[in-house]
Amino acid sequence: MSNPSLLILPGDGIGPEVMAEVRKIIDWFGTRRGLAFEVSEDLVGGCAYDKHGTPLTDATMAKAQEVDAVLLGAVGGPKYDSLDFSVKPERGLLRLRKEMDLYANLRPAQCFDALADFSSLKHDVVAGLDIMIIRELTSGVYFGEPRGIIKEGNERVGINTQRYTESEIARVARSAFELARKRDNRVCSMEKANVMESGVLWRDVVQEVHDAEYPDVELSHMYADAGAMQLTRWPKQFDVIVTDNLFGDLLSDLAAMLTGSLGMLPSASLGAPMANGRPKALYEPVHGSAPDIAGQGKANPCACILSFAMALRYSFDQGDEATRLEQAVQQVLADGVRTADLMQSAGATPATTSQMGDAVIAALDAGLQA
Ligand code: IPM
Ligand code: MG
Repeated sequence: MSNPSLLILPGDGIGPEVMAEVRKIIDWFGTRRGLAFEVSEDLVGGCAYDKHGTPLTDATMAKAQEVDAVLLGAVGGPKYDSLDFSVKPERGLLRLRKEMDLYANLRPAQCFDALADFSSLKHDVVAGLDIMIIRELTSGVYFGEPRGIIKEGNERVGINTQRYTESEIARVARSAFELARKRDNRVCSMEKANVMESGVLWRDVVQEVHDAEYPDVELSHMYADAGAMQLTRWPKQFDVIVTDNLFGDLLSDLAAMLTGSLGMLPSASLGAPMANGRPKALYEPVHGSAPDIAGQGKANPCACILSFAMALRYSFDQGDEATRLEQAVQQVLADGVRTADLMQSAGATPATTSQMGDAVIAALDAGLQA
């Protein structure tokens, strides 16, 4: 059997820097754990636009459809702000999500012990936090039609459409219930059923799927604004949160900050199983391209490294190896090796991006000797 294939799309801003550290980790698993991957690399986002005039070429899109998993860094930057919407760097990412039909976006918010004091919230509120946000990723207001900026009389009108079909809601609800069964068996669904019809339907369908297929899982519903409030008040009340594309975008950034830094949060975007049984999958850090610190060796590679850990777990059935990598990251943080985003005192010297990657490799090595 040939090695599983990985397409790496470093993208823009800090993407290439953090991905360089992931490449070291991938190599480590190849040489030290006999887990070799067929790795190829390509362009997405602004760098693809610069070279090809589009944020994602058809050839790259086709490659993404063929591989076992895609690993993406970040897209976007101020240089591209004035571009037409259709060729903005973000469109490359959105096209990947849409055409690969990656409807379930898993965004875990876990507070590592070593970082509990670093969160802007009180230690007790976040210590030991382990929640999973499942964001619907291929529909809703991100993709709904009609959309655009039209002329009405002598003023312009901006239009986007929130649209969800029953089947779109049902399939992401199933992902949430399945995942909850492997965790604390609780799902909280968030929408705005008090003001939006799509929210009323969302609530109904999630409840129907629950009653018919997952009665053993504890299900609750919350308005998304109240959910945001509860996430900052007492986040540990949640296990799995399932929500739509836009609310999920907002709530997952909020949840990220509970853990101390956006630089720590990985994600997995999963679709239907392919012929080989593996789900269509794209893994990416939740942080963006961070143009303000790009190219300076300041970026925290942990979110991207932990995204590769999610790939090991969800695409390659290597849960133990994923845990090995997650523990190595935790060890490095506990040892006090930190990038600038995780430094508390002004006096200490932060680790560079590549020092952080090297420290994770050293912790992996040490783990083998133990
Ligand atoms: C995210 C990002 C993206 C989104 C952008 C880069 C298109 O914020 O993955 O959360 O809005 O989905
Ligand atoms: Mg976002």
